[in-house]
Amino acid sequence: MIAIALQKGGVGKTTTTINLAAELARLELRVLVIDVDQQAHSTSGLGITVDPDDATVFEVLTDERSERVPLAEAIKKSEFGVDVVPAALALRKLEKGGLGPGGQMRLAKQLDELTGYDVVLIDCPPALGALTEAAMAAADDVLAVLEAGPDEVDALVRLGSAVADVQDSLNEDLEIRYVLLADYEGNTKTAQNVREGLIRDWGNWNDGGAYLGEIPHTVRVREAKDKQVPVAVHAPTCSAAVAYRDAAVRLAERIRA
Ligand SMILES: Nc1ncnc2c1ncn2[C@@H]1O[C@H](COP(=O)(O)OP(=O)(O)OP(=O)(O)O)[C@@H](O)[C@H]1O
Ligand SMILES: [Mg+2]
Repeated sequence: MIAIALQKGGVGKTTTTINLAAELARLELRVLVIDVDQQAHSTSGLGITVDPDDATVFEVLTDERSERVPLAEAIKKSEFGVDVVPAALALRKLEKGGLGPGGQMRLAKQLDELTGYDVVLIDCPPALGALTEAAMAAADDVLAVLEAGPDEVDALVRLGSAVADVQDSLNEDLEIRYVLLADYEGNTKTAQNVREGLIRDWGNWNDGGAYLGEIPHTVRVREAKDKQVPVAVHAPTCSAAVAYRDAAVRLAERIRA
């Protein structure tokens, strides 16, 4: 179970969730995506529509016992071999008001009882609030997604502190085990420096380190998002599709090991 997180907005968390999920499914892993972001972009990006009567992560996490449903009842099938627990705008109520007593462990408990998946990817909102905390309490690993900008390294330090807090209170084995540079424009010196710094700090993948790689910037990613399909479906040979495929192969090796 991997929480895909960074409190900074628009760095490529959702794009990474959608495309890694689709590629891991192509590698014949059984994949579940849980969308805990009220924006519901990984839900829509995997072509899932939510009817008013459908259960979402809101009903799984809500502090109102009478409204709550088991996680398994909220699962929908996408066209891309990936199952999805959709998000809903109502999640903002929980992000603001909190999850109530025991709420941080609610997702973790539900996931403990769930069987039938090899990988669960949890797409977190751009905040270190109640929902990211619930995702981290449920996860084994954190995948930190960064853009190669000047603030990202700070953001990663803050994410590290949040993970340490979760280790102290809810989930002692949680760690940032994967770091990915999304939306990478390798032609700038800043971007290259960020990349080199990450490899130095987190270790080369092939030496057992956490640096999973970088995903090139390409307009195909945005086009795929507009079509609500993974980039590999929209443009299978574009640089980002190839990079997500490679990252999924590397990740699958560690997951299966
Ligand atoms: N490799 C890429 N090439 C081009 N555009 C990209 C790439 N990766 C992400 N983007 C674009 O950047 C924007 C932000 O990406 P995304 O929604 O994945 O970020 P996020 O971290 O989930 O954002 P939020 O914090 O709001 O949830 C999107 O419009 C997405 O299409
Ligand atoms: Mg997102």
